[in-house]
Amino acid sequence: MEQLIINGGKRLNGTVSVSGAKNAALAIIPASILCKDVCIIENVPCVNDISVLLDAMIELGVKVNYIDEHTIRIDARKINTIRVNYEHINKIRASYYLLGALLGRFNEAEVALPGGCNIGNRPIDQHIKGFEALGAEVSIEHGMINAKTDKLVGSNIYLDVVSVGATINIVLAAVLAEGLTVIENAAKEPHIVDVANFLNSMGADIKGSGTDTIKIHGVKKLHGTQYMMIPDQIEAGTYMVAGVITGGDVTVTNLIPKHMEAISAKLKEMGVGIEELDEGIRVFMKEPLKSLHVKTLPYPGFPTDMQPQITALLATIKGTSLMTEGVWENRFQYTDELNRMGANIKVEGSTAFITGVNGLTGAEVTSTDLRAGAALVLAGLAAEGQTVINHTDYIDRGYEHIEIKLQKLGANIYRATAAENKKELFKVM
Ligand code: UD1
Repeated sequence: MEQLIINGGKRLNGTVSVSGAKNAALAIIPASILCKDVCIIENVPCVNDISVLLDAMIELGVKVNYIDEHTIRIDARKINTIRVNYEHINKIRASYYLLGALLGRFNEAEVALPGGCNIGNRPIDQHIKGFEALGAEVSIEHGMINAKTDKLVGSNIYLDVVSVGATINIVLAAVLAEGLTVIENAAKEPHIVDVANFLNSMGADIKGSGTDTIKIHGVKKLHGTQYMMIPDQIEAGTYMVAGVITGGDVTVTNLIPKHMEAISAKLKEMGVGIEELDEGIRVFMKEPLKSLHVKTLPYPGFPTDMQPQITALLATIKGTSLMTEGVWENRFQYTDELNRMGANIKVEGSTAFITGVNGLTGAEVTSTDLRAGAALVLAGLAAEGQTVINHTDYIDRGYEHIEIKLQKLGANIYRATAAENKKELFKVM
């Protein structure tokens, strides 16, 4: 088992570049199979979730080649099966986008039903409602969802909850449907706009992405394309917090400042110095930081995927802060790990009450999910002494070369196997 080891307390300084958006890639890559052609996708992040998704696609018969570390060529001319097994969905829930994409292309798809996960119950009723509205018959048997129809026909769909997953899956199923599909109460996240832009570059006719109402005029056929994906809003936000939590001066480049507005606004409210550049944001210290109230909400609200990282930061700021989770029911498990590092966080229902402490102290801790892992890395950077983080596999799902990027900013962080770490400890003793 690999671990991340951080000797904390170093102020971070310098520039870090953001990779492509994981959540956009997880939808754009499945979207590419909607055409019987070749797509080239640039700025794909080198993270484990993408490798797992590509394995699932290869099993369908899709040919995948890496042109360079961040550019992939997807040839979906031949697909042998419309079935995605549990083995894949179990590793990444986003494989459920293959349901919308296969249904869109073949009028049939069979995908294992995703289970719950560490951040709460994850229903897919809105995805199913959308497919049914387009004319598919959807059944669940033996752990598989089967969606089938002779012909998909456009429809009006009102989402009962704002769901990123359902919005994207319905768009995927609707682009080749006959007539007009209107999705109301659609999610507005930047990666939804990116998926729509990608599909439009393949010849789709999607309007209104990024607003509550998305209109999709079905087209007969899509063609191959070459497309560069947006940068990762959450990775960018995580490095901004890394600068702040260490009292440093960090410029995060290759981001879209507009996507960062909710995060920048909250950091500014705390007293962080924020300088917006064309494709970057500089964070620096200008006054003592103040406690804060935050509530996570669908975009353009404060992203749930930044909740653990900001909580780690608030744990180090004088006063009492409140963090309310408005998207998931169970996203505070990591607070016990932060408390082991000296934080003082109490969770009641969907709110964490965070009483700032004078300093965190290094400890051996375990990530419970991807963003929880990021929060522990941030806490470790600020803590006095050594932090050892178990379950780096969660972190590697969504952060490309995290230790290398942080090392370049001056952090003392490295990766080792648990056995190597033990040896190192004995040497020190
Ligand atoms: C959500 C986040 C996304 C984040 C991801 C991983 C929002 C709106 N979405 O996306 O930014 O990257 O988690 O942390 O912030 N729901 C239903 N029925 C459905 C689908 C969803 O009730 O069919 C509910 C979920 O239980 C949840 C909410 O809708 O409470 C948002 O879910 P959804 O946006 O679909 O989740 P993700 O796409 O995973």
